[in-house]
Formats: sequence, structure tokens, C-alpha cells
Amino acid sequence: MKAAVRYFSHSGNTKAVAEAIAQAAGVPAVPVDAADAALAEPTDVLFIGGALYAYGLDRRLTDYLRTLKADDAKKAVIFSTSWLSRHAVDLIRRGLTEAGIPAEEAYFYVKSRPNDAQLKEAAAFAEKFL
Ligand SMILES: Cc1cc2nc3c(=O)[nH]c(=O)nc-3n(C[C@H](O)[C@H](O)[C@H](O)COP(=O)(O)O)c2cc1C
Repeated sequence: MKAAVRYFSHSGNTKAVAEAIAQAAGVPAVPVDAADAALAEPTDVLFIGGALYAYGLDRRLTDYLRTLKADDAKKAVIFSTSWLSRHAVDLIRRGLTEAGIPAEEAYFYVKSRPNDAQLKEAAAFAEKFL
């Protein structure tokens, strides 16, 4: 099972979740604006995450979602953080749908900064799709 982890994080909360998931998957957590963010080969599961900023996604994540194609991933699993709203999950799901990549109904969400227990939960959540 091939996996990839891509995320956007401004202040580190979503990055912490991405890294917990990546560790569980045995792959690097790669920011969407990194030089190696493009998926070099098709993956079975793409874990993709981002936070909500002023009720929207950061442009870098929106742009990355627009680069995705159906062949890039058999399925995607979404993760997100925010103060309160889970709307980023919907926006990421919409981007994946437009790319033709089915997203699991289940997603991982944490309010603001994840604590150690929540990072363990993120890893356990990821394991279910590996
Ligand atoms: C400029 C800005 C706007 C935000 N807007 C929202 C918002 O509309 N709704 C919400 O629930 N959280 C909002 N947040 C909170 C972030 O989504 C939250 O802090 C998130 O964990 C940040 O993730 P990051 O550390 O990965 O960047 C906002 C944060 C910032 C800095």
C-alpha cells in the first residue's frame, strides 16, 4: 500500500497532525508548497490536510488541489485543524472531487494545537487506511 502525506500549515497545528500521520505511514509529510509536493507516482492513499483561514483554505492548498488528477491517488483521507469550524474539510473534499479523487467520509480533525493524545489518535486513524 503506497501512501503520501501533503498538507498546508501556517502556524504548525496541521503540520503536527501531518507528521503524526506520516510517521504512521512511513512516508514524509510534505508541505503543498514544497518543491517535491507533486506526486511523483500514483499512490493508493493520499492523506491531505489544511486549516481554515477566514472561512477559506490558504491559496497554496487550493492551488495544489487544482494540480491533482484522478490517476494521482486511488483515494484520499482528509485531516484538518481550526478554532471551531470544520469547513476546511468540505473545501478540501470539494477540491478532491473536482480532481476525480474519492475522499473517505471519515476525516481527522483537531481544534487548534493537537496534544500528544490527539497525535496518537491521528496515527491510529491513519493506520485504518494503510
Ligand atoms: C488569519 C486566520 C483566520 C482564521 N480563520 C478561522 C475561521 O474562519 N474559522 C476557524 O474555525 N478557525 C480559523 N482560524 C484558526 C485556524 O484555522 C487554526 O488556528 C488552525 O489550527 C491553524 O492551523 P495551522 O497551525 O496548521 O496553520 C484562523 C486563523 C488565522 C490565523
